[in-house]
Amino acid sequence: MIRITDVERNYKSGETYVRALKGVSADIEDGEFLSIAGPSGSGKTTLLNLIGCIDAVDAGDIIINETPISKMNKNEKTEFRRNNLGFIFQTYNLIPVLTAFENVSFVLSLLRLSDSEITERTMKILKEVGLEGMEHRRPDKLSGGQQQRIAIARALVKEPSIVLADEPTANLDSKTGEEILKLMKEMNRKYNTTFIFSTHDQMVMEYADRLLSLHDGQIIDDQRR
Ligand SMILES: Nc1ncnc2c1ncn2[C@@H]1O[C@H](COP(=O)(O)OP(=O)(O)O)[C@@H](O)[C@H]1O
Ligand SMILES: [Mg+2]
Repeated sequence: MIRITDVERNYKSGETYVRALKGVSADIEDGEFLSIAGPSGSGKTTLLNLIGCIDAVDAGDIIINETPISKMNKNEKTEFRRNNLGFIFQTYNLIPVLTAFENVSFVLSLLRLSDSEITERTMKILKEVGLEGMEHRRPDKLSGGQQQRIAIARALVKEPSIVLADEPTANLDSKTGEEILKLMKEMNRKYNTTFIFSTHDQMVMEYADRLLSLHDGQIIDDQRR
C-alpha cells in the first residue's frame, strides 16, 4: 500500500514561489484503480512524480510497500523504481528506433533473464494489450492508441505492484481513450496491479473506482464508487 502523509512540495522559479502541494494525505490500497483528478496546475503531476520517486517532498512523507521513500538515496530510488513501479505518459515516450517488441523487451534486458524468457514474456504481454502481429512495427507505423498500448505493455512486463499514468489519454480521441482505460482496468483486475492515473477529463474520471480530487495543491474530495 501507499501512505501519503502531509506532503508538501514547493517550487521556486525566479522570484516566484509556488506551493504545488500544500499538505496532501491519502492511503492507497493494493489493487486500487484510482484517479487523481483536477484542473491544470492543481498538482497532479507533482504528486505522481513524488509517488514515482522522480522528485522529493519538501515536507511530509510517502511510504510505499513499507519503504519510506524519503529515506532512500538516489541509487536506492532507482532500484526501487525498477522493481516496484511502471510508468505511462501522455506522450507515450517510446523509443522511436525500436520496434514494439524491442520497446517492451528492453525493460527486461536489465534483469537476469534468459533470451527465451524475455521473448516469451514480451510476446505474452503484447498479446494481452492487443498488439499481436504488430510486434515488429516501429511506433511511427502505429496509431496513438496502439503506441499507448505498447507503453502499457512496457509498464506491466516486469509485473510491478504499482503503475503510475500521467494523463494517459490526453493525446487520444475519446473513443481510443476509452479503449485504453478499459485495457488498463482489465490489467488492474487481472494482475491486481495498483493503477494511479491523473486526468482533468470527466469521461476518464468515470472509469475510476476512486476519485481523489485535487485543487490548488490540496485534496478537496475523496470519493469511492
Ligand atoms: N518545475 C516547476 N517549477 C515551477 N513551478 C512548477 C514546476 N512544476 C510545476 N510547477 C507549478 O506547480 C503547480 C502544480 O503543477 P503540476 O503538478 O504540473 O499540476 P498539474 O499536473 O495538475 O497540471 C502549478 O502551479 C505549476 O505551474
Ligand atoms: Mg500535469
